[in-house]
Amino acid sequence: MRLGVMCSGNGTNFENIITNPLCRKHEVVLMIHNTKKCGAVKRAAKFGIPHCRIPHKNEDEMIQLFKVFQVDLIILAGYMRVLQNPSKFPCPIINVHPSLLPKYKGLHAVEQALNAGESVTGCTVHYVNEELDGGEIIMQGEVPILPDDDIQSLTKAIQRKEYAILPAVIDSLG
Ligand code: GAR
Repeated sequence: MRLGVMCSGNGTNFENIITNPLCRKHEVVLMIHNTKKCGAVKRAAKFGIPHCRIPHKNEDEMIQLFKVFQVDLIILAGYMRVLQNPSKFPCPIINVHPSLLPKYKGLHAVEQALNAGESVTGCTVHYVNEELDGGEIIMQGEVPILPDDDIQSLTKAIQRKEYAILPAVIDSLG
């Protein structure tokens, strides 16, 4: 598959998609980001992957670009905006979210689980539809919440799980 990735932040999941052996048979052909200081840009440059900043409101521009690049699957990897018209995009879109959906949708999901006193949280890869973090769930990974965990340590543990399940989902879809 020809993969398109959308990012807003550091881009560690993006880099993991590029380097993970489970994704070797696929090609990341385009990374779109929506923020001025986006760590994913450096990673795209390092791997020679075309990249472009498009403000989140300009979805028609994104759709055109994904069509030009003939993308088969779009992955939201830390893209922190809700897509208004996901059904207009030219291919399926998946998202990785740091909670066991349907629990803790939206922003600050790690903090929400921690503050709720959960003993287990995790991450979810799901299809994107019009509903916030509401599309069909494809795969989840559980992460225990340890007594000493804070937001940082728990975020790291969840991201380690994301680095395993997101490539596994991509592998299963292609
Ligand atoms: C990931 O942990 C992902 O679950 C989260 O952003 C992080 C991005 O990290 N996404 C969301 O919270 C979406 N609602 P990364 O840029 O280092 O891959």
